[in-house]
Amino acid sequence: MSDAPILAPMNLVTDLDAAGDFEKKHTPHIGLETIESKTRIWVKTGHHVPHPNTPDHYFQWIEVLADGNAIARFDLSPVATEPHVCVHVDLPSGTVVRAVAYCNLHGLWAAELTL
Ligand SMILES: [Fe+2]
Repeated sequence: MSDAPILAPMNLVTDLDAAGDFEKKHTPHIGLETIESKTRIWVKTGHHVPHPNTPDHYFQWIEVLADGNAIARFDLSPVATEPHVCVHVDLPSGTVVRAVAYCNLHGLWAAELTL
């Protein structure tokens, strides 16, 4: 029997600092940088607790959404041992950015922030 908790279809973690290791391992971590008036959004997985990323257990993709609309998607293979992706965007202040990461064993994990 798995020791993993029962998972929701989409696990949106709103307070990563208060989350357990299982949640920290799976929840994408979103960061922002401003470069010449453009915003770079980066997403890391396993930011607080490393995720295995082996052929049997890995993140298959990461998607970035802005106000619910997909703006970037990154398909991954197990050789991406520490997924860290980024995209430059031109979005207005107040846009809600969501990152979703899909673990082949543990499903969908999401985090959000507002620009
Ligand atoms: Fe996993």
